[in-house]
Amino acid sequence: MGQMLIKNCGQVATLAPLVKEKRHIRISPADLGILNQAWLAIQGGKIVELGTGVAPEHYEGWPQLDARGALVTPGFVDCHTHPIFGGDRTHEFALRLSGATYQDIATQGGGIKHSIRSTRAADEDLLFQKCLSQLWVFLRNGVTTVEAKTGYGQSVQEELKLLRILRKVAKASPQTVAVTCLALHDIPTEVSSKEAYIQTMRDELLPILAQTKLADWVDAFVENGYFTVADTESFVQKAIALGLKLRIHADEFSDSGAAFAAARWGAASADHVQQASDSGIKAMAEAGTIAVLLPGTSFYTKIPYADASRFRNADCAIAVASDFNPGSCFISNLPFAAGLAALYCGLSAAEALVGITWNAARALRMEQHKGALIPGYDADIIIHGLTSMDQWIANFGQTKPKEVVIGGSRLT
Ligand code: NIG
Ligand code: FE
Repeated sequence: MGQMLIKNCGQVATLAPLVKEKRHIRISPADLGILNQAWLAIQGGKIVELGTGVAPEHYEGWPQLDARGALVTPGFVDCHTHPIFGGDRTHEFALRLSGATYQDIATQGGGIKHSIRSTRAADEDLLFQKCLSQLWVFLRNGVTTVEAKTGYGQSVQEELKLLRILRKVAKASPQTVAVTCLALHDIPTEVSSKEAYIQTMRDELLPILAQTKLADWVDAFVENGYFTVADTESFVQKAIALGLKLRIHADEFSDSGAAFAAARWGAASADHVQQASDSGIKAMAEAGTIAVLLPGTSFYTKIPYADASRFRNADCAIAVASDFNPGSCFISNLPFAAGLAALYCGLSAAEALVGITWNAARALRMEQHKGALIPGYDADIIIHGLTSMDQWIANFGQTKPKEVVIGGSRLT
């Protein structure tokens, strides 16, 4: 990995004030740490120096990349996606257009259960290829770090298979990939009872995850009609005892106390959280559990959007993710999701950018080296086809990045 000087940046959003203060709440425009007419020097995959005006003479011999006055931001971090699945559920979108709800479709054997059937039936190599090309689509929209969940295997063997494929995808992709085992997503049809299913995943799958380190994270869909807090408790306690880290799908359709539980369990994030109670949000703020807003799911299924002011007022940190999945959200464009979060959840432009960079890195516990542009941080950088933050938020991800630099290398 060589050297590179990125010069003529119109604006660089460094987010340096947030890194300096290790702060994830009370985000104001000043927190973007904007440098005007700036340059960045990269070496060994890291940012080594940045500044304004003309770069120092000793960089003259370095390979140069001319940003031609563009806006430059950290590479985006998508901290919630479901990119590995077989089959096609786009017909469910048509059903919803005709009035069916997500839950109606699920009750009739569609939804997650449909994806479980088609994922189990899919060829492993095809799953690998499809998932890898999906990650490339994310990357073309500026996503340099991505969290990827299993969840359509839903048996010990099938979940392990998906985790192994995700590890292969992570190796083959230039992105940094965080792998999550969404062990409790839906109850597969062949199991005798929900309790038996949870017990198997708890007693058989979790110890293998702890031993093999195939998953960086463990997740559960804690929701009325899927897995309640009480259902999930012993599973989570075992995960904690085994040293596994948690992120939780919480209170998407109704308040089942999941946000509160996620905070109590020390989860890094509680995701969706439209229906989280005030006490749940307060507990999240106290525990440092990040609220990951997924407005794409509300957009596609017409359920309510999360109200960002409830989290902001409680000093609960907010991130935004795509929730790309085969059924409830087809958005591969994280800045589009950030635009939705601004318009419908009520984030400011600064909060939206921080939500898909610094706070998303924090939700993945990668804030030591990702999510900001300061010396020592990974050289994951977007040179936008836009020149200002105003243009960026109004653009809703329609303009593709001019250049994406990932780990110090230009994406070709
Ligand atoms: O985050 N809510 C649970 N899981 C996914 C949807 C999964 C699906 O419909 O396949 C989500 O929206
Ligand atoms: Fe999800």
